[in-house]
Amino acid sequence: MAAEDKHGSTNPLRDPRDRRLSRIAGPSSLVIFGVTGDLARKKLIPAVYDLANRGLLPPSFSLVGFGRRPWSNEDFAAQVKESVQAHARTDFDENVWKQLAEGIRFVEGGFDSDEAFGQLKETLESLDAERGTRGNHAFYLSVPPKSFEQVCQQLSSHGLAETSEGKWRRVVIEKPFGHDLQSARELNNVVESVFPADSVFRIDHYLGKETVQNILALRFANQMFEPIWNANFVDHVQITMAEDIGIGGRAGYYDGVGAARDVIQNHLLQLLALTAMEEPISFDADHLRAEKEKVLAAVRLPADLSKHSARGQYTGGWQGGEKVTGFLEEEGFNPDSTTETFAAVRLDINTRRWAGVPFYLRAGKRLGRRVTEIAVVFKRAPNLLFRDHNDHDFGQNAVVIRVQPDEGATIRFGSKVPGTQMEVRDVSMDFGYGHSFTESSPEAYERLILDVLLGEPPLFPRHQEVELSWKIVDPFEEYWASLDTQPEPYAPGSWGPDSADELLAQDGRTWRRP
Ligand code: BG6
Repeated sequence: MAAEDKHGSTNPLRDPRDRRLSRIAGPSSLVIFGVTGDLARKKLIPAVYDLANRGLLPPSFSLVGFGRRPWSNEDFAAQVKESVQAHARTDFDENVWKQLAEGIRFVEGGFDSDEAFGQLKETLESLDAERGTRGNHAFYLSVPPKSFEQVCQQLSSHGLAETSEGKWRRVVIEKPFGHDLQSARELNNVVESVFPADSVFRIDHYLGKETVQNILALRFANQMFEPIWNANFVDHVQITMAEDIGIGGRAGYYDGVGAARDVIQNHLLQLLALTAMEEPISFDADHLRAEKEKVLAAVRLPADLSKHSARGQYTGGWQGGEKVTGFLEEEGFNPDSTTETFAAVRLDINTRRWAGVPFYLRAGKRLGRRVTEIAVVFKRAPNLLFRDHNDHDFGQNAVVIRVQPDEGATIRFGSKVPGTQMEVRDVSMDFGYGHSFTESSPEAYERLILDVLLGEPPLFPRHQEVELSWKIVDPFEEYWASLDTQPEPYAPGSWGPDSADELLAQDGRTWRRP
């Protein structure tokens, strides 16, 4: 039964049996830089409201926006309300909103303005005094990386990065963490020259997704998967992140970045690490990150990058009955841009567990449908017994972790076709979140913002992971740059360029068509 809250309204999300409720953030504020950007409007602000609605923020919680707009606190609150009503996951509740709105402040200014940062300091001090935020402040840098240095320096020179007894200061940064290994190191030096390493929270929002955390539950809370999760049984692993949308409107960010830097360096390599790592001795941040780092450090690149990598660019055409623009004609892009909108690579892992098991990663825009999944594909059974009754190759068993949008997991195995003699065909056994649980999944940013306020770091990659990931991606980037050619075109709604299929075909395999 849903619990009645202090305002007398019932909200199933506040069911006292909901064990997530025990993790309520302590007194604190969240300052967002880049508050008018898409990420803040569509994800961060709605997530803050959803946390409030779930009763996971303290009454003193305050939200401070920092930006150039000439807004009063009330103007900003109106913007926040609009974002919440348009994008929050949970229903709009006037009482929750009223309480949240009391702690909303706006500081007007540019990142170069000493006066604005002085104003920010005053605002935070008055929140400490009036609302009891107790000197605990998180700074969310939802801004382009080129501004990280300036914002960090300003926070430092205004004494906003200093912690003192019982008060914390944390900084949250969003990917991209650099453009390559070298720039990632420089960026890290800038941030860590101001904030100590344990106060830096790097967001890879995939780690906040329920289904991604479920990789750990599936592997380590069960007995049936782990014994076969190795090179003796696994033939190969496919990690797919397919999006059906194009890149229109994001030229400023995406041109010169491309699919490998945008999502393989972070999201897909994190999925690979969680799928391939050894069992950590606990889920403490240090243990978990150490295991992920071991896997990333053991990744071996293909000997011949030309054979085991592919990249493409979507062309214009028709997708789902709609006419769509080709990448090179999208507004703001250089018409001979060599940025890839699709990338696929083969990686191997030099460990006893994974020797000889390729991990194929692919990511692309404007593909057949939006789907992210990890497919662990097993070796074929000999099946001599059934050969006479089957004129086709036997399928391969697979465990497929469906990250999104149809969250769950599937097991593929062969089964006898009814009525026939011993004909065997592949069938699936499905677990779907929607069917098995009544609780809905929180958005990744809810979990991550809450963890920042709680100071729980396991879901935030540390700098070492970022470096290891660039060491994997940089050689592919350098190889592609050396070609000095356009990526291979592919049609919208397809599954990428032909070279991606060839990449697997030469190993005697095919991509799954999710
Ligand atoms: C972001 C990438 O990190 O993830 C985007 O920069 C991509 O290009 C997005 O569209 C996808 O996120 P999600 O959660 O919708 O899979």
